Amino acid sequence: ELPWVEPYKIKMTEDIYISTREEREKWIEEAGFNLFNLTSEKVFVDLLTDSGTGAMSDKQWAEIMIGDESYAGSQSFLKLKKVVNEVLGLPYALPTHQGRAAENVLFSVLVKEGFVVPGNSHFDTTKGHIEFRKAHAVDCTIDEAFDIHDLHPFKGNIDVNKLEEVYKSHPKENIPFCLITVTCNTSGGQPVSMENIKAVKALSDKYGIPVYFDAARFAENAYFIKEREDAYKDKSIKEIVKEMFSYGEGFTMSAKKDGLVNIGGLLALRDENLYRTCGNFGIIYEGYLTYGGLAGRDLGALAQGLMESTEHTYLKARINQVEYLGNKLIEFGIPVQKPIGGHAVFVDALSFLPNVPREEYAAQTLAIELYKEAGIRGVEIGTLLADRDPETRLDRFPKLELLRLAIPRKTYSYNHMDYIAVALKNIYDRRNEIKSGLEIVWESPILRHFTVELKKS
Ligand code: F0G
Repeated sequence: ELPWVEPYKIKMTEDIYISTREEREKWIEEAGFNLFNLTSEKVFVDLLTDSGTGAMSDKQWAEIMIGDESYAGSQSFLKLKKVVNEVLGLPYALPTHQGRAAENVLFSVLVKEGFVVPGNSHFDTTKGHIEFRKAHAVDCTIDEAFDIHDLHPFKGNIDVNKLEEVYKSHPKENIPFCLITVTCNTSGGQPVSMENIKAVKALSDKYGIPVYFDAARFAENAYFIKEREDAYKDKSIKEIVKEMFSYGEGFTMSAKKDGLVNIGGLLALRDENLYRTCGNFGIIYEGYLTYGGLAGRDLGALAQGLMESTEHTYLKARINQVEYLGNKLIEFGIPVQKPIGGHAVFVDALSFLPNVPREEYAAQTLAIELYKEAGIRGVEIGTLLADRDPETRLDRFPKLELLRLAIPRKTYSYNHMDYIAVALKNIYDRRNEIKSGLEIVWESPILRHFTVELKKS
């Protein structure tokens, strides 16, 4: 049998500067040991995010050239609407400038003070938009998700018992919807099974509560359903995607992931009245109904991107590359969240750096080590990100302290994956010598990880 290879070839390249260790040590100190403060030329392999950082296809670039910039009724919007209707199966589409903007529009209508929104580990901006409205996000993810060694094939699943507990303990009027994030970024890019989606839908129907999706990585989720759920092995990705969304009243989507574009978001809805109400918020926050904060060309590129990301050949190449990196790290004995997720490899910093106390931000310490070692920029998904408890102002220690290595789509080669793996192995080999971490010099009261300034402990 022949090996699996990418179903595309490369038409354009972008140079990246190979820095020295001395340069990086100086730069990261100047950056206050915060990787967000680094300008991009100081980064060799950028794994900060898989959001908006991927390569587009020639057909997407063609859409950029033929984009229709009409304020109302743009042809590029009609292309996007057609894909939302025919491929994703929802009748109404409102473009937005990003995923969080779609959240803002939908939640402006549905989320009120005192409400609770259950789901599987809501993404930070999602939680932010819920908490900003003085409502609560309740995490109902299955417990297996928090044990990195548990090989559960769908660690993004919602625990239906936890969900029912939420449904029983709050009046129906205070639960605007249940939100299923596919894949679940926070738990490691872990998928949600169709069986679980159906179970959540059935339970939610019983209590009269609508289901919505956070669809940032919906295509990657569909790929895992096809690979891991027997009943779906002969279905196409497009069939799986359509069935998945058929169980919801709509979705918010950051199109910067599986939309395969550099900017964009989408709110898709089933109900006409809700669409009209959301449309009003869309107009004041984002722009007119048929562009929503995007250029016409962006809408065209997104329509094409959604067609391409729902192809099995593309997804297999994409997810194989992430898995390849994960398996290399496992081979080297490096502790990672298993199974490997769709868009990123998550390294368990607490067991990687056993001598660095949690109070000294072990995952951030590892992120800085990796940058100094090889110019690789990952991101901390740990105590810095978790912010302080709003009441006690003490650090909140999340269940896991992770370093996320997010892989941009169609951007880096397998050689880059080997490079990343060896860089981490070099640090792993000298892990016992790393005995101290970092302390905070300055931080903002919320979302501190973006701007925090640190020094060596
Ligand atoms: N939902 C999920 C699951 C996400 O991962 C993100 C963004 C958003 C919503 C918000 O979308 O950025 O377009 O406004 N995640 C990026 C990341 C930033 O790095 O994981 P946005």
